[in-house]
Amino acid sequence: MASHLVPSVQEMVAASGGDVVPPRYLRPEVTSDPVAGDTKAAIPVIDFQRLLDPDASHVELARFHGACQDWGFFQLINQSVPDGVAQAMMEVTEDFFRLPAETKKQFAQEPGQLDGCGHLFVVSEQQKLDWSDVLYLNTQPPERRNMKFWPDSPANLRVTLDKYTAAVKNVAECLLAIMAKNLAIQPEAIAEKCIDGIQTVRMNYYPPCAQADKVIGLSPHSDAGLLTLVLQVNEVQGLQIMRDGKWVPVSPIQGALIVNLGDTFEIFTNGRYMSVEHRVVVDPQKERLSIAVFHNPSMDAMIGPLKEIATCEKDQVYMTVDHASFRRLYFSAKLEGKNFLEGMKLKISSSSS
Ligand code: OGA
Ligand code: NI
Repeated sequence: MASHLVPSVQEMVAASGGDVVPPRYLRPEVTSDPVAGDTKAAIPVIDFQRLLDPDASHVELARFHGACQDWGFFQLINQSVPDGVAQAMMEVTEDFFRLPAETKKQFAQEPGQLDGCGHLFVVSEQQKLDWSDVLYLNTQPPERRNMKFWPDSPANLRVTLDKYTAAVKNVAECLLAIMAKNLAIQPEAIAEKCIDGIQTVRMNYYPPCAQADKVIGLSPHSDAGLLTLVLQVNEVQGLQIMRDGKWVPVSPIQGALIVNLGDTFEIFTNGRYMSVEHRVVVDPQKERLSIAVFHNPSMDAMIGPLKEIATCEKDQVYMTVDHASFRRLYFSAKLEGKNFLEGMKLKISSSSS
């Protein structure tokens, strides 16, 4: 992993105004993909308060089930992260990326580690790169926090990140419990695998690029974990999800969290709920910022189809591996759509009994 050797995109843009795109960032193969012009194909909007309301939740529960099953992506409105906490989180994220390059370098990723400031998923010297800078941190359980990479500037970043991720964790845990209900399994079937679950955060900074149609902000991928909750920091659009062979742009609703299901959820449910491929495109004039919080099972959980869902071994579509191996495999692969998950599928042999 040589990501620490790659200069930040922000520095490059500062030097050239984003006019000169180094060859390592040019991605002709991704720019020709069709984008859906039909904005009616908007991702579902789910009302968190209605989900929690015992009287009014019937319709919302069914809509939520549909969103998980048919889309794997939805916007969550009326969610419970206090406005002030979300606002503070957006501010520290902007303030961090505005710091001088020299200051940010103090928190640069180190070889073989994901935590810190840099690029994600750099696995070879030849590999093409995404047009973004990231700050990636482990937030839960507390013993996984590597404070060396938690910036102490801006001064309130640490305390804000702590509060924000705690609030987001609550939302994620509520959603997981309701998803279990919708799947007609006991909430404990999932919750037990998530005691001391791993939570990480990725703050993304996508600088503008004069040749925006020749670069990609974040390569097509599906997320590794159970649930990802994304807060978009400013009004600049960029996130797109793959649906029926086309990229569908997401227009975030102010105050909403954009939620998506990851590969682990697809495996747990043996494919009943699916992770969905998504990517981020870059704006020619404006920077874009987002904060993604990833929720995963505990480190000691096995990753495989839940026995409550795939009762017989022969029904299992995915293999079962320990969590450490699962994460090692995911993070050592280049981001390439859902290829990683394809590799987790068991080969169905007609002779098996
Ligand atoms: C991610 C991601 C979306 C965004 O960080 O995995 O998909 O809007 N981010 O930045
Ligand atoms: Ni993602």
